Amino acid sequence: MRDTLVIEGGHPLFGQVTISGAKNAGLVLMAASIMADGETILDNVPRIRDVEVMIRILNDIGVKTDWNEDGSLSICPPPGGVKNQTSYELAKLLRASNLFLGAMLGRQGEAIISMPGGCDIGTRPMDLHIKGLQALGADLELEHGYIYAKVIKSNAARIYLDFPSVGATENIMMMAAKTPGQSIIENAAKEPEIVDLANFLNFMGAKVRGAGTDIIRIEGVNELKPGRYAIIPDRIEAGTYMIAAAISKGEVLVQNIIPNHLHPIVAKLQEAGAAVHETDQGIVVKAGDKILPVDVKTLPYPGFPTDMQSQMMALLSLAEGSSMIVENVFENRFQIVDELKRMGARIKVEGHTSVIEGVESLYGARVKATDLRAGAALILGGLVAQGETVIENAGYIFRGYENIREKLTALGARLK
Ligand code: EPZ
Repeated sequence: MRDTLVIEGGHPLFGQVTISGAKNAGLVLMAASIMADGETILDNVPRIRDVEVMIRILNDIGVKTDWNEDGSLSICPPPGGVKNQTSYELAKLLRASNLFLGAMLGRQGEAIISMPGGCDIGTRPMDLHIKGLQALGADLELEHGYIYAKVIKSNAARIYLDFPSVGATENIMMMAAKTPGQSIIENAAKEPEIVDLANFLNFMGAKVRGAGTDIIRIEGVNELKPGRYAIIPDRIEAGTYMIAAAISKGEVLVQNIIPNHLHPIVAKLQEAGAAVHETDQGIVVKAGDKILPVDVKTLPYPGFPTDMQSQMMALLSLAEGSSMIVENVFENRFQIVDELKRMGARIKVEGHTSVIEGVESLYGARVKATDLRAGAALILGGLVAQGETVIENAGYIFRGYENIREKLTALGARLK
């Protein structure tokens, strides 16, 4: 992640930005597509580093992939089934590699997946994934950093998730899609990316009902067929640009979005004093003449997204008064605090709660991205800080934001 990004602060953003396809829908659909024989074509897949790593993992297990002329991504698993072990080095590069577990068990009843890597925002356990896949008849052993999974006796099951884990819901859905009988996931994750996966599986011939609610019913089928499918726009990328408009005192039209995926973010931005309204081209965010303090609690969808927490913290660093952010999803997602403090922010952390005392202005500094969204939040701080901000490890940011330099420059930001 050694890239460095330099931003000259003080240039309000004006204009329009087009949002790319959702990273967290694209990654799971790329894994799910190995479950169908033949060529699957995915439209709107963002050209980001995590997608490139996912492509390398697919190629490594024998799947042919091509970026087509029209920008779509073709994925062709070999007829005889994929290699059932993902490469240790590659899989450690991103958390989403664990989604091959459900896809491989669904397709061929066996999978050897290395314990996933990804951003260090918490321990990232797999207990809920394992509980669900075991209930569906897989035997899973953890050894030498690998998960060895094999279907012993397929059986439909009713699975209760102690926490509405996105990845666990996705892995269970994929395996259950090919498990005979009716399985039920209770307390399922309700994120839009879950709905996109369900729509994609049904498009391939699966029978998934109730995605987007906390009860998902899946009737197993024998075969899934390939097809062409467009993934949803990225609500977190959209939210990041919405905050960029508010923090930089500009006005931006954010295009290619699904409004109701953004309601929690719109609500908080309005409370913080920004003017936000929907037009038929997208959402317009106009900075207020000041930033008002607000309290934020991150929660599973449809609560305020944890992936927007760092970005909100950057905005609230400049509010007129004190704000509070409670992080209820990950246990260690406040690394951004130390970096924002180097820029002059006044933030105190007590466990899962941070108190942000707004300051007059931030100052450019040499800071370090600690994960994808913290990196994005440092860009937001840099847009408005006095002087130059140098962000090290900016490679994290390129994992999840397609053409971010071009998009910000087109809006008037000064990046090097
Ligand atoms: C997905 O991660 C996203 N990643 C994350 O986005 C996102 O922050 C997260 O969902 C929550 O919305 C992808 O979709 C690739 P979880 P995931 O399982 O599936 C605990 C980004 O920046 N948990 O919903 O790993 C876990 O420790 C990334 O785009 C268990 O306890 O998230 C965490 O505290 C960051 N046991 C909470 O659930 C388990 O078996 C949420 O994790 C699984 C999870």
